[in-house]
Amino acid sequence: MWSRLQKLRRNGVLTINNRNANYILRYNDRKKYPLVDDKLKTKQLAIEHDVSVPGLLTHLDSESAAKDITKVLDPFPDFVVKPAQGAGGDGILVIQASHNGRYIKTSGQAVTAKEMEHHCSNILAGLFSLGGHRDVILVEERIRPSHVFDQIAYQGVPDVRVIVFCGFPVMAMLRLPTRQSQGKANLHQGAIGAGLDISTGHTLQGVWFNEITLSHPDTGNQLSGLPMPFWDDILDLSARCYEMTDLGYLGVDIVIDDTRGPLMLELNARPGLNIQIANQAGLLSRLKDIEDNFIYAKNRKIPEPADRIDYARNRFAAPQVANLETGAA
Ligand SMILES: Nc1ncnc2c1ncn2[C@@H]1O[C@H](COP(=O)(O)OP(=O)(O)O)[C@@H](O)[C@H]1O
Ligand SMILES: [Mg+2]
Repeated sequence: MWSRLQKLRRNGVLTINNRNANYILRYNDRKKYPLVDDKLKTKQLAIEHDVSVPGLLTHLDSESAAKDITKVLDPFPDFVVKPAQGAGGDGILVIQASHNGRYIKTSGQAVTAKEMEHHCSNILAGLFSLGGHRDVILVEERIRPSHVFDQIAYQGVPDVRVIVFCGFPVMAMLRLPTRQSQGKANLHQGAIGAGLDISTGHTLQGVWFNEITLSHPDTGNQLSGLPMPFWDDILDLSARCYEMTDLGYLGVDIVIDDTRGPLMLELNARPGLNIQIANQAGLLSRLKDIEDNFIYAKNRKIPEPADRIDYARNRFAAPQVANLETGAA
């Protein structure tokens, strides 16, 4: 046990207690939580700050509106229904088409009008929401994933999670839906996380249910070595979420729409730690680097987003993996 702890510390792994006590508590003002825990508020804030987000088709907050939901949804050929204060992918319906009064999910399964009404009244009752309070239904534009992911994603929308510390994008992973996760990119629903080299945006190995994996379980395709499109824009969007929220320790989730490009999907003030497994790298050493060089530095000054990105790309590049065939680094 002792030697395992020592090894973890040597690799600069951030543990849950350390994250909570020294990063979330210290760098995230509780008063700011509603900005990120409520997706409607996040969206409004993002629009004010020129951060691109998926379009909001409508939002509903009354029981009578839920009863009329099929009329409300009628004009939209495809859409996503989600609880404003949901988490972990719970309560989200991604509808790709409607047909004879039925709604077709990305998995191909149909939802009847009655089931849709029932689902919406459950959202309003807070069944899927943080704290279980009454909630609001968001109807959002459906993101059409970029075809570059066809090889490594299974139905649904992959997203990029970036950990942003005091505005510096310190670590990232690509989350890929699997058959099991039903089109959602949430890891505990069964999606895969593939590490991303902050410097180049290339994928590294993956993590699936906390175990390392080199290929996608449904497509069998290799996970590593793929270039993320729009990497510069992804880093720019994520870094700017610091100014937008004033939260020092933030998980930024970004999706790539086939026509609109990178969009900020949601923010998280308590982002998970298994991004470290996907990257085979610890967060702690990167956080301490930023603290030593900027936070506790004599002239405490947080640089502009572009300079923070340059710093992170130079400082936190993934180590070169030796090429097994040629032996070259
Ligand atoms: N507008 C959308 N279009 C397509 N898929 C979506 C959309 N919104 C959410 N999803 C899918 O659902 C997952 C969870 O959505 P998200 O908004 O991040 O909520 P949560 O807080 O529950 O994680 C996403 O990773 C994505 O796979
Ligand atoms: Mg999410």
